[in-house]
Parts: sequence; structure tokens; C-alpha cells
Amino acid sequence: MKTWKTGEEGEKTGIEKLVENFTAGADVGYDQCLAEYDIYGSIAHVHALEKLDLVTSPEAKKLRNGLRKLLEKDISLDAGDEDIHSKVENEITDALGELGKKLHTARSRNDQVLVDIRLFTKAELFRIVRELLSLVESLLYFGSSQSDTPMVGFTHYRKAMPSSVGLWAGSYAEALLDDLTLLEANLELIDQSPLGAGAGYGIPVNLDRELTAETLGFSRVQNNAIYVMNSRGKFEFNLLSAVASVQLDLSRLASDLISFSDKEFNFFEIPEKFTTGSSIMPQKKNPDVLELVRGRSASFPGHLSSLFSLLHGLRSGYSRDLQETKKSLIVGLGDTGDSLAVLAPLVSGLGVNEEELMDAFSGEVFATDRVFELVKDGLPFREAYRRVKNNLDSQVEEVSEDQIRGSISSRNHPGGPGNLGLGEKKNLLERSKEKWAERESRFVDCLRELRKPEGSSEKYEDQKPKAGNNE
Ligand code: ARG
Repeated sequence: MKTWKTGEEGEKTGIEKLVENFTAGADVGYDQCLAEYDIYGSIAHVHALEKLDLVTSPEAKKLRNGLRKLLEKDISLDAGDEDIHSKVENEITDALGELGKKLHTARSRNDQVLVDIRLFTKAELFRIVRELLSLVESLLYFGSSQSDTPMVGFTHYRKAMPSSVGLWAGSYAEALLDDLTLLEANLELIDQSPLGAGAGYGIPVNLDRELTAETLGFSRVQNNAIYVMNSRGKFEFNLLSAVASVQLDLSRLASDLISFSDKEFNFFEIPEKFTTGSSIMPQKKNPDVLELVRGRSASFPGHLSSLFSLLHGLRSGYSRDLQETKKSLIVGLGDTGDSLAVLAPLVSGLGVNEEELMDAFSGEVFATDRVFELVKDGLPFREAYRRVKNNLDSQVEEVSEDQIRGSISSRNHPGGPGNLGLGEKKNLLERSKEKWAERESRFVDCLRELRKPEGSSEKYEDQKPKAGNNE
């Protein structure tokens, strides 16, 4: 039932149903993901109402405990509920009668939906970072176990120079650590409390916005009530841009693995559990998992352009267009968490075919090395280059293992295949894991605190040992 309808609901006309489905039909599906966070937002809001004496303390306790009971209930939405905010308000009114009708005091669904989305986004961001760091860990450990394993390096999809499996794996670890910096900047933007902005122009009471921000675990209040509304869609856009950077790395990693595990190369073996069979060709072990990682990354230009187009030129203040931002956010973040989660164990289980990797080293791969030998003998680089180029046909095709390994270890400047610097990246990984685990556990603890039924501390008091009892 809609909260803004004051009269008795009569028989629904066809038009009402049509409009209801048009405005809420798909959106309630996305709101389902926000349900838990909507209730947390309401619990925090009741604290602020209590502080303003807009509800008495016993009423506040009853409201908060009633909301906590809703957390245990399987709330399922349909278009008739309009959205999660109305649904929660209706549920609490069904449970507590008149008292439930006080819940929406000093609040609008416009700031409420932003609380839900920001909390949901924080939770998803923590998941993405956790999965990202475990993929970085897989890559760094795989990379160090294969630090000296030779692998041809390619440019333009063609053989180029000697390289190593360690350099290849380390490149993805470093790429993802760069993405982490972008994600961290986005956490700063997301971690602000919109609650109290109302419909976008404040509310006629001095609500303690610091209190609700703190109760919900936000690091600060987002100040300007209009900007609270105008930032909707913008922080989603910024975050999805950072996440798109992760997706670029994942799609490229997937593409490498698809090619390099193909019989044409046969450098790597994808663990069998991550391959799928064919319904007609019994011999097939297909890299569907990697293809889906790559395929899902293709939605990101769509997510970004949809968010940008929704926002650009939109007049300030809330407009219902903003509802359409949810889809890209929820799908984009979910897909990214899932892709990261599947890649970490896949990389850890990668098999390496050292023989095939070695066999790929044909003579041409050493052309640049030969130029450098001449340079070391005193020839100017361009002259040395010319001589090697003019004698390409006479180059020796037989390549020895010593030559391969010697060439790799000669590239010993920082970041070369002979000096990977994986140790330093492992240290950065450990520091990042610690920092993000601490942030996430502060968030989780905060939500746990909100879930605790009130009255349990009294029980605790009751159980405290009596004075004089030393046991
Ligand atoms: N479903 C709406 C949204 O996502 C909730 C806010 C509705 N506010 C309004 N003024 N109609 O934006």
C-alpha cells in the first residue's frame, strides 16, 4: 500500500495497475537488495527522533525492537508495495499499530533511499576489495612460485622478447593494487551520511545528523541537503568507473588465460573444475568461466554511459529518473565481486607447462638481445640494430636453456623479469589486507550493534555477580 494515499483504497483500475507496474515493477526487485539497509537506517533514525522527544524512550525502544524483528522476517516485495521504504513503514505499522505511523517523522524517502544505497554500496565495496586482495594474493604467490619460469613476451599478438611467468602474473597483481587506490578514494566519497537531508531541503527540526551518521557507521555527515540529492548517481558513477578499471584488468587476464591455455600455446592448464564440457563434442574442456568474466566486463561501458546520461543536465533536486541508477550499481558491483571470487582460486590452481613455455622461444625472440651484445661491444645502438635486422635470416633457430635464462636474468632493473619486486608487493598486500579488514569489521560491528535487541544489557546486569561474591 502506498504511504501517500490518504483515502481508502478502492478497486484498482487498469490504469492504476499500469502505472504501478511501470513505476515500481522492476525497481522493487532492486529494492529487495536494500531491505536490510533500509531497516538499519530506520533504527538509527528512531534514535534521533527519541533525542528530539518526537517519540518517548519506551516508544523508541518498541520501534527499534519492532524493526529488528523485521530483519528476521523474509520481506518480499511486489509492485503494490511501491518500494522498500513504504513496505517497512507498513510492516511496522501492522506490527505496532499507531506507533508505527511515527516512524517517517522528519524523513523523506529521498534521503532514506540514499542511506540504503550508501550502506549497500559500502558492503559491496568491502566484498569487492576482499575478493580483489585475495586475487592479488593468488597472483603474487603464483608469480613467485614461477618467478624464473621463462615465457615469451608478446607485442601486437606476436612474439617479441624473453619474459617470465612471474613478470606476467605480477603485472596483474600490480594492476589490481593500482585499482585499489581508486576504490579507496571512492570509499571516502561514499562514506557520508545523507540522513537528515529530507526531500533535499532539510526538515523543520534540529535532527542530530551526527548521531545518526555515527550510529550507521558513516565516517561523516554529508552536509548540504541539496547536494545530498545531487550526489545520487554521481558517487555510483565514480565508483563504477573505478570498478570498470578492475574489469579492464579482469577481462585482459581472462583473455590471456583463454589464449595461453589453448592447445596452440599450451602454456597453462586451467584447473578442470573451472572448465565446462560440450553437449556434443566429448573431447572439449571449455574456458566458459573465463569467457563469462570477459563477457560481463562488456556491460561496463553501458553502466557508465547510462549513469552519466541520467545525470548530465538534470535539474538540481530529486527527480524520479534517479531511481534508474540502481540497476547499473547493483548489477555492476555484483558482477565484479563474482568475477573476482572465481578468479582467485582459478589462478591459484593454474597448471604450468614449462616444456611448452620453453619451446616457444624461437631465435627471433633474441633479436633485441643480439643488438645489445653489439652495443656492449661499443657499436652505436642504431648501427647495431641495422646489422641485426639485415642478418635476421641467418639467425640461429636453436636456442639453449642457458641463453633463455641468461637473457631473463639480464633484465635485472626494477620491474624487469630478472627483478620482479614481488616481495615489496606482498608487503603492500599485507598492509592493505589489514587496513581493509579493520574498516570492514568496524562496519560489520556497527550493523551488529544495530541488530542487538534492547533490553539485553539489563539481562547482562542481572547476571552480573552480586557484590561480595568473588567467584
Ligand atoms: N524508489 C524511489 C527511488 O529509488 C524512492 C524515492 C521516491 N521518492 C519520491 N519522491 N518519489 O528514487
